[in-house]
Amino acid sequence: MTRKRLAAMVGGGVVTLALSVPFLWSVPSVRPTTVTVYKTPTCVCCVYWVDHLRENGFDVDSRDLPDLRAIKAENGVSPGLASCHTALLDGYVFEGHVPADLVAEVLRDRPEILGLSVPGMIVGSPGMEVPGQPAQPYDVLAFDAQGKVSVYASR
Ligand code: CU
Ligand code: CU
Repeated sequence: MTRKRLAAMVGGGVVTLALSVPFLWSVPSVRPTTVTVYKTPTCVCCVYWVDHLRENGFDVDSRDLPDLRAIKAENGVSPGLASCHTALLDGYVFEGHVPADLVAEVLRDRPEILGLSVPGMIVGSPGMEVPGQPAQPYDVLAFDAQGKVSVYASR
């Protein structure tokens, strides 16, 4: 191979890289950033969790439904994973009082899961703070389409 040919190939590589980098930079801005939260009309802690998301930079589209069972079933949230609200964002499901930093982490790392859940109602989880009551430790669970559940984080 001549030196000139090699230089042309390297030059071509540089051009390809230069063209691809701005494209990569543009990807995060085209991702949806609005969390759709399905909750029942009377749920107060759901509103507090929506506030928690907004305080952490998320846009939230909060929707009231009289019954969330269909939304949960459609999104792989089994009864054992269920909590008071179901949130959808960018192909992931966030069930219950999941901390916003973990929502952001999933969007960044894109693990091969359906979503995260904090089943039930844990005192001290975001939106479930109760004055005068100590926070309970809890696990944030990851679940996938095959029904596999694992501990994603402990708080
Ligand atoms: Cu709740
Ligand atoms: Cu809720």
